[in-house]
Amino acid sequence: MSQFGPEYIRAIAPYQAGKPISEVAREFGLDEAKIVKLASNENPFGVPESAKQAMAAAAAELGRYPDANGFELKAALAKRYDVPADWITLGNGSNDILEIAAHAFVKAGESVVYSQYSFAIYALAAQGVGARGIAAPARNYGHDLDAMLAAIEADTRLLFIANPNNPTGTFIPAAEIEAFLDKVPAHVAVVLDEAYNEYLEAKDQFESTAWVRKYPNLIVSRTFSKAYGLAGLRVGFAIAQPAVTDLMNRIRQPFNVNSLAQAAAIAALNDKAFLEKGAENNRAGYRQVVAAFQELGLEYVPSYGNFVLLKVGSDDGAGARVNLALLKQGVIVRPVGAYGLPQWLRISIGLPEENAAFVEALKKALG
Ligand SMILES: Cc1ncc(COP(=O)(O)O)c(C=O)c1O
Repeated sequence: MSQFGPEYIRAIAPYQAGKPISEVAREFGLDEAKIVKLASNENPFGVPESAKQAMAAAAAELGRYPDANGFELKAALAKRYDVPADWITLGNGSNDILEIAAHAFVKAGESVVYSQYSFAIYALAAQGVGARGIAAPARNYGHDLDAMLAAIEADTRLLFIANPNNPTGTFIPAAEIEAFLDKVPAHVAVVLDEAYNEYLEAKDQFESTAWVRKYPNLIVSRTFSKAYGLAGLRVGFAIAQPAVTDLMNRIRQPFNVNSLAQAAAIAALNDKAFLEKGAENNRAGYRQVVAAFQELGLEYVPSYGNFVLLKVGSDDGAGARVNLALLKQGVIVRPVGAYGLPQWLRISIGLPEENAAFVEALKKALG
C-alpha cells in the first residue's frame, strides 16, 4: 500500500464498471460482433441520428474550447424545465454532478446519507471528500425514507436518493418524496438522482424539477446517458436554486462538458420520437425478460428503470457463478456482489433479440 495520500482515499475500493465488449471478446476468445452487452443500462438503440448530425456539425469547431457556461444547452434545458438558466449546472455525466455536490457541500469528517442497495457512487463521492457515508437500511430493496430521515445526524450535509434506484429498479411515488422533503432538516442538501426518469410511465412521472422552487436544499440530477443514448459522451445536469447552483459551479471544472456532448445533448433533448421509441422498446423488453423469469420460477425485483435485478441462486457464490457462465456464452450482465447482493444479477433491457439471447444463455447457465 502506498504511503501517499490521505487514509480515506487509500480506503476507497474503486468503482467496478460493466465489462467492455472488447475485453470479454479477448478474455473468452469470442467474436465481438456476437457479444450481447446488457451490463451498463445503456440505450440499445445507441446514439440518436439527430445527435449524430449535431456532432458532425460541431466537429469543425473542435480546435476551440467548449463553451464553459454551456449557454445553448442550458437555454434548451431552461426552456424544457421552465427554470432560469442560472438554476442549471452541467456535468460530465450526472456522475460529475454527484461528485460536485459532495465537494460543494461536505467537509472531511462530516456525513452523507444514502440508502443500502443504492447507486455505488454515493458512497464513493462521500469517501472522496473524507466524509462518513451512512447507509440507511433498505425496505424491500428500495429506499426506506423513514429510515433515511432517522439516519440523518447533526453533521449530515448531503443525502442522495436514486429514483428509480439503481441497481434495484425500485421507485418512490411523488407524494412520498414530497412528504420526505418537508421533513429533511434545512442543513442537509438533497440530491434527487433521476437518471432513469424518462423511462417512467406517464402515470408515475412528476415534475420534480418544479419542486426546486419550493425546496432551497433540493438538487435534481438528470442524465443524457440512458434514455437519450449518449452514455459515451458524458453529459448530465442538475437543477437547483441559484445559491446552490452558484456553489456547485465554483468547483465545477470550467470545461467539464465537451463541445460534441453539448451539441448532441441539445439535439437529443428535442428528439421526442427517439425517447418514445426507447421507452416503448424498454416496456416490451421488460415484459419479455420478466415472462421468462416467471416461467423459470426466478425471483426478481419489479423495476421502473431500463434494467432488472434477478435472483439467480440462494448461495453467495450464485451471482459470480452464473455471471461467468453467461460471459462464456458472450452475454455480459452486471454482478452486484459489491452492492451486498451476491445472489443477484442486474440485467439491462436490450433489443428483443438481445433479450432473447440473454434468456437462452441464462437457461443454459442455470442448467
Ligand atoms: C442512479 C444513477 N445515477 C447516476 C448515474 C450516472 O450516470 P452518468 O454519469 O452516465 O450520467 C447512473 C449510471 O449508471 C445511475 O444508475
